[in-house]
Amino acid sequence: MCHLSGHREIISGSINDTLLIGKIIGGNLMSGEIVALTGELGAGKTTLTQGIARGLGVSEQYQITSPTFTLVNEYFGKYRLYHIDLYRLTEFQDMGDICYEEYLDGIGVCVIEWAEKIDRVYSDATIFISLTYIDDNSRKISISGKAERLIQFSNALKCGGFNG
Ligand SMILES: Nc1ncnc2c1ncn2[C@@H]1O[C@H](COP(=O)(O)OP(=O)(O)OP(=O)(O)O)[C@@H](O)[C@H]1O
Ligand SMILES: [Mg+2]
Repeated sequence: MCHLSGHREIISGSINDTLLIGKIIGGNLMSGEIVALTGELGAGKTTLTQGIARGLGVSEQYQITSPTFTLVNEYFGKYRLYHIDLYRLTEFQDMGDICYEEYLDGIGVCVIEWAEKIDRVYSDATIFISLTYIDDNSRKISISGKAERLIQFSNALKCGGFNG
């Protein structure tokens, strides 16, 4: 079966916009989905992940920060959220060292920062989101993936006031 794919672009004008965009995306994620985040240092990947966590129902009492010494942080919401940050992944580590494939087995949602550092876990079901710096307060957020999922995300984002 051939899945159409495409992409949508939206502009975030503030940290709060990015949090809200993340919250809307998080509220529309399904168990087993992988969100692959790309973008330079300070582009807003962690900020977007904070919003996604809220959308997944992770309590406000948990601060969402990038995992540093571990590569993954786990949170409990409507689904489990595995927040992975591959920034420190070195060429000397490999999948065996990290062992995060156990997180990708469909029991929760995986959000991966610096997702471009690996590639073999992604599929046509992966939701790719790239963040690009525009100016101090603005970021371009580009979502790609299966057409049917993009329609759902962009409808939800439109309802939230974000037109792509
Ligand atoms: N519209 C915006 N959306 C997100 N962050 C913004 C926005 N405008 C300004 N910022 C600032 O940009 C920074 C984004 O930081 P964040 O940690 O989310 O980026 P990151 O992509 O995760 O970086 P890193 O690669 O270091 O993990 C924050 O300091 C935030 O205040
Ligand atoms: Mg980050």
